[in-house]
Amino acid sequence: MPIIYKENTKEFHLFNSEISYVMEILENGQLGGLYFGKKISEDCSLKYLRVDVARSHAAFCLPTPSVLSLQHTRQEYPSYGTGDFRYGAFSIKQENGSSISDFKYVSHKIYAGKKKIEPLPATYVESDNEASSLEITLSDSVTKTDLILTYTIYENYPAITRHARFEHKGDEKITLEKAMSLCLDLPDADYEMLHLSGAWGRERHIKERRLEQGVQAIHSMRGISSAEHNPFIALKREETTENQGEVYGFSFVYSGNFLAQVEVCSNDTSRVLMGIHPDNFEWTLQKGEIFQTPEVVMVYSDNGLNKMSQTYHKLYSERLARGTWRGKERPVLINNWEATYMDFNEEKILEIAKTAKEAGIELFVLDDGWFGTRDDDTQGLGDWFVNTKKLPSGISGLSRKIEKIGMKFGLWIEPEMANKNSDLYRKHPDWIISAPDRFESPSRFQHMLDFSRKEVVDYIHEMIAKVIRESKISYIKWDMNRYMTECYSRAARPDEQGKVMHKYILGVYDLYTRLINEFPDILFESCASGGARFDPGMLYFAPQAWCSDNTDAYERVKIQYGTSLAYPISSIGAHVSAVPNHQVGRITPLSTRGNVAYFGAFGYELDLNSLSKEELEEVKEQVAYYKKYRRLFQYGTFYRIKNPFKCGDGAWMVVSEDKTQAIAAYYLGLNTANKGTLRYKLEGLDPDMRYKVTVSGESEFYRGDQLMNAGLAINRNKYFKHMGDFVSLIFNIEKA
Ligand code: GLA
Repeated sequence: MPIIYKENTKEFHLFNSEISYVMEILENGQLGGLYFGKKISEDCSLKYLRVDVARSHAAFCLPTPSVLSLQHTRQEYPSYGTGDFRYGAFSIKQENGSSISDFKYVSHKIYAGKKKIEPLPATYVESDNEASSLEITLSDSVTKTDLILTYTIYENYPAITRHARFEHKGDEKITLEKAMSLCLDLPDADYEMLHLSGAWGRERHIKERRLEQGVQAIHSMRGISSAEHNPFIALKREETTENQGEVYGFSFVYSGNFLAQVEVCSNDTSRVLMGIHPDNFEWTLQKGEIFQTPEVVMVYSDNGLNKMSQTYHKLYSERLARGTWRGKERPVLINNWEATYMDFNEEKILEIAKTAKEAGIELFVLDDGWFGTRDDDTQGLGDWFVNTKKLPSGISGLSRKIEKIGMKFGLWIEPEMANKNSDLYRKHPDWIISAPDRFESPSRFQHMLDFSRKEVVDYIHEMIAKVIRESKISYIKWDMNRYMTECYSRAARPDEQGKVMHKYILGVYDLYTRLINEFPDILFESCASGGARFDPGMLYFAPQAWCSDNTDAYERVKIQYGTSLAYPISSIGAHVSAVPNHQVGRITPLSTRGNVAYFGAFGYELDLNSLSKEELEEVKEQVAYYKKYRRLFQYGTFYRIKNPFKCGDGAWMVVSEDKTQAIAAYYLGLNTANKGTLRYKLEGLDPDMRYKVTVSGESEFYRGDQLMNAGLAINRNKYFKHMGDFVSLIFNIEKA
């Protein structure tokens, strides 16, 4: 069993062939941390790592002569208030106003496998030998509350998952004011923190900063994980690169408010906290009630960032994504949003679909504008019945016509919203999230429905399920286009208002679960104004997500590069769109637009009928090319090679599991005159294998070790068909 408990030293050691995680029961009964990193022999004790000395101003947690000071001790789930002055992992308020807690070890359980924490999303196992779990029960004798910390170590991934559960057994109610999913104390602060931050249209840009004493944090208080910050951070050493060096990844399997924080204390240790954001959160527990935190997935790599990302890619596409579409090749789609916006009718849609079919595209997605009075974004959200003026034969008729053309049909919905100009709002004005007697801040003319209320979810579910039942629908794009303001539920008691934001997300998960259960074969793509809810929680329900509303090829190199840090390529919705690009006005070659979108769940988002004959031919070639290598693109091992945030140009590649096939891409940013020869080192190949490398129709032969160590020398004049900015190259690499 890869989890052992040593009674003599009171140490827990979780390990697989790559990593070790070691904890101890401290002398005061609390749980201390000792080590997380590269595998260490499980028969060693790591207790020597804790050096207790009487430091000035330390408060000791045991009577003298003990010098155990929590401020100077690495802990697994600490609280503030008993001598540790750093931010704690949780806070419990008693009825008497005290917020002091003291959770002491009671017992533990080690078992094969991993339990579900539904209704929350989480990574899972399919058989018990894939992972081992440890549940440690601690108890606070004053409040009579148990705290169960659960750790799972996977057998084949250098990953550990964690979450916490509070079970209240006391007669007096308690209020959880903070309940993070993870605390990890690291022994030094020599790290750079990477995070994925940005805004609408430039989601998940990679930001880097050196840790300094004090607190550095990213967060969302927007009701969803947000475009501004993604629930992921990594701590890397300064010398760590894509392919070497130490890095820890922390990824939060949740779609709502979050906080990811690293606190460096005055002794230069680092405390990582990750979980639901404590602001706007307050959870009362009566006797017999429990609170379960979402899960955090920690990954350790001593082979650089690529190895960390590859672990997340594999784990999330194999053991987080579920259902019919897990591991399955995703269809090439065409979406009408940028082609028509809301100005369409059945004829126009069918014309686009017919041309798409001729180009080999497999799925037609009808975006916003098909329901209620939805002719513009001021109206209609909430009225999930078809607008027969636009679509006389309904979704039912249109979907059948599309199927007749030989394509699958997909539909856009935005179930969590209502415009005030809608039948739904007129009937149920109290169903939107808003505070009594306060202004209800509109955003895109819409308001959030109160998904913390079951009757609201029931109503929306019925309307949407009806449309799906009546039609032939193979794909749903589930959108969400505003952030939460004036958080208040008209149905919740005053002391339950602090639950609303979390319960809202549980409502979203509930609706997903109902739809997935009834329509297991539908491919769901999540979306929130582009990529504002691109998080692991969503991937549990929808195995792919619209990456960004920004479809400009050059901007997408950055966005997809950043996204790949934590998310599998198969999950990244990526489309070729028209030029000048609708978001930035840039003109990029059609080839580059294809070369970027190939590295994702590929599709088109433009009116194919507005293309020239030559362009249409090129589209056909792109679709055929993508289909030929689709499995490699979507599920191959992905390596980032050139960082567009650093050098303006970008490069990455995918390699098949047996290393006989690879595709590499190079994206030039701005061209300059008289540029030197481009050296391009590949990754992940078999050093001894002989490869044929084909680029721009020319083939050469190399050994894997040449390609990885000496690299390719790219003669720009020869390979680039056109001079100019934003050109790109695709290298097809095959075992010779
Ligand atoms: C959001 C999505 C877009 C599109 C529009 C429709 O912005 O990200 O892809 O679906 O909504 O209103």
